[in-house]
Amino acid sequence: METLNLALLGGGTVGSAFYTLVQERQEELAALGFLPRFLGVLVRDKAKPRAIPPELLRVEPFDLLEADVVVEALGGVEAPLKLVLPALEAGIPLITANKALLAEAWDALRPFAEEGLIYHEASVMAGTPALSFLETLRGSQVLELHGILNGTTLYILQEMEKGRTYAEALAEAQRLGYAEADPTLDVEGIDAAHKLTLLARLLVDPGFPFAEVRAQGIARLTPDHLEEAGRRGARVRLVASLYGEGGRWRAEVAPRYLPQDHPLAQARGNALWVRAHPLGEAFVTGPGAGGGATASGLFADLLRLLSGAPGHLPAPRAKPPLAEGHPFPEVLTQ
Ligand SMILES: NC(=O)c1ccc[n+]([C@@H]2O[C@H](COP(=O)([O-])OP(=O)(O)OC[C@H]3O[C@@H](n4cnc5c(N)ncnc54)[C@H](OP(=O)(O)O)[C@@H]3O)[C@@H](O)[C@H]2O)c1
Repeated sequence: METLNLALLGGGTVGSAFYTLVQERQEELAALGFLPRFLGVLVRDKAKPRAIPPELLRVEPFDLLEADVVVEALGGVEAPLKLVLPALEAGIPLITANKALLAEAWDALRPFAEEGLIYHEASVMAGTPALSFLETLRGSQVLELHGILNGTTLYILQEMEKGRTYAEALAEAQRLGYAEADPTLDVEGIDAAHKLTLLARLLVDPGFPFAEVRAQGIARLTPDHLEEAGRRGARVRLVASLYGEGGRWRAEVAPRYLPQDHPLAQARGNALWVRAHPLGEAFVTGPGAGGGATASGLFADLLRLLSGAPGHLPAPRAKPPLAEGHPFPEVLTQ
């Protein structure tokens, strides 16, 4: 049996759920020949209650170079980057759920991603397959992609469909723990833009810059927009889209009217819809957030790593779009 030394950065919603999942799946790891051992779990406050034994908690960064794999669930950009870079430089693989880190610190991380050292299924749609779904679609040429990649805004829009105002729906999302106290990243479309950047790099251009994603959120939508949608047989969703425009790939997050019978409009969770040649249309939907759902994506990456497969490789080169246009052209004016 080989000891598998895990360094876990973050013991919050996702980190704690990952710790618990590794305990639950010990037998499966043993069947693969691995005995997991946590070297430590980095947190800010040791006194907070959490499902991790207190003796594993660290409030000072510890030596990640002893790890066989680093699992990052801290959030943010600068703090995790400083921690994970020396480990990556030493050839230690990274599993992360952190889309902001990958989207915004790509210049530093890209060489390691291209080496196959970065696994990040959980960074888009949590444990619902998004990256592995798109990896299989590499057998085709993607013509366009549209996704509902942010659960907080989906919840708010679904509540507004029931007649609540934006402010009421946001307050309810915050009360239920679906939205942060500062909801800016979600409601302004930035979280979805982070995720869309990662999908664009995987599929069409390994260097796709985060700064090129146009993002518009839902904070200025009113019940009138949703009523108008209902009258037209449509639903309003915050849609993250990658499509051809003027011979270039355009990445855009915006609230749009979707026909009610479209799979994206009917999805109850996060969802990704792709049209590709010669495959045709493909669709996947499922939970895109939550401790367990996200830990599931991290654990899938751990299994992928233990099977000897590389991390999520970006597209080998930039390729121009084969098709033009957006099937849901109408961005809501707010
Ligand atoms: N929550 C989800 O549903 C979800 C889904 C997909 C992806 N993600 C991503 O997963 C990551 C973690 O999210 P989360 O919801 O688990 O966040 P969270 O509950 O706030 O947990 C963050 C953890 O990191 C620790 N931490 C943060 N900054 C630190 C620092 N500078 N030094 C030491 N410890 C630090 C916190 O310590 P304390 O506990 O002591 O505060 C906490 O344990 C984020 O990148 C997020 O985008 C989350």
